[in-house]
Amino acid sequence: MSPISKLAACAALVLATAAAATPASAQAWPNKPITWIVPFAAGGPTDALARTIAERVSREVGQSIIIDNSPGAGGTVGAAKAARAPADGYTMLVGHMGYMGAAPALYKKLPYDPVKDFAPVFRFPDTPMVLMVRRDHPAKDVRALVEFGKKNPGKLNLSNAGMGSTSHLVAALFAASAGVQVSLVPYKGAGPALIDVIGGQVDGMFDQTNTALPQITESKVRPLAVTSATRVAQLKDVPTLAESGLPGFEASTWYGIYAPKGTPPAVIDKMQQAYLKVMSDKAFTGKMTAQAIQMLPPEQYTAAALGRHTQSEVTRWKAVAAKANISLD
Ligand code: MLT
Repeated sequence: MSPISKLAACAALVLATAAAATPASAQAWPNKPITWIVPFAAGGPTDALARTIAERVSREVGQSIIIDNSPGAGGTVGAAKAARAPADGYTMLVGHMGYMGAAPALYKKLPYDPVKDFAPVFRFPDTPMVLMVRRDHPAKDVRALVEFGKKNPGKLNLSNAGMGSTSHLVAALFAASAGVQVSLVPYKGAGPALIDVIGGQVDGMFDQTNTALPQITESKVRPLAVTSATRVAQLKDVPTLAESGLPGFEASTWYGIYAPKGTPPAVIDKMQQAYLKVMSDKAFTGKMTAQAIQMLPPEQYTAAALGRHTQSEVTRWKAVAAKANISLD
């Protein structure tokens, strides 16, 4: 047998062994629609970002990706549902900084472990947030809002997507940093929370840029500051919170897709490769950048990178929550 045919035979043997090690189900995956659980009501930033990405990834994997909105308890209800789902690659969680990063520091009895109960698949791009108030609120900037809050303890009410959501966490960090007592009003998602800022039922909220920008552009709400370290190009006249009297204040929401622990690695890699291909399409990522969604270096999108980031965030939030005295049960 010539050296070439020996190499070919060896490669064939390796491939056959690998194929034998991969369950048939993983080789055939996906052969039916996939479900992504979004643990907030439809219409919020997590839902919007997930639908945008799901549409493109579904074309790559050749199966539809169905969004299952399962709201409650700041995203922890949906996360617990995903942790219990079959590890067959047909149910995954759209995770984010709240219920996959901060939650272990906030809930003593969390019905899942963000690290032990899940396998990371890939990370989405990040979204900075905007502090917005109802358009008839007397405060025209952050300093005036803080003064309003100090003069009216507990009367400044900020809506959020549920206790433990990023809109809740960032509002709590803002209140602690500014030394102001605010009333935090929970909803089933940032979508419903924003509707009540627009309607004037609450004074304001922190919302991600991808859903906040259209409302700001249509002057339905007034932006006071952004939470990113530098100004957002689409809101260049809106100062950062750090410029507005809260030096060092910075927050943005990170997201990722997680599969239940035990999902075949071949399935995770197929989904990851499909996503990385989508994220190399500049026309697609340009549409998200136009919504002030922050693209990351490609190496930060991988399953391994999301796994490292999740662990570091769980550790970081234990210190942040202790320092800001945030707890939920
Ligand atoms: C949050 O505030 O944690 C979420 O982004 C809310 C949402 O996406 O609905």
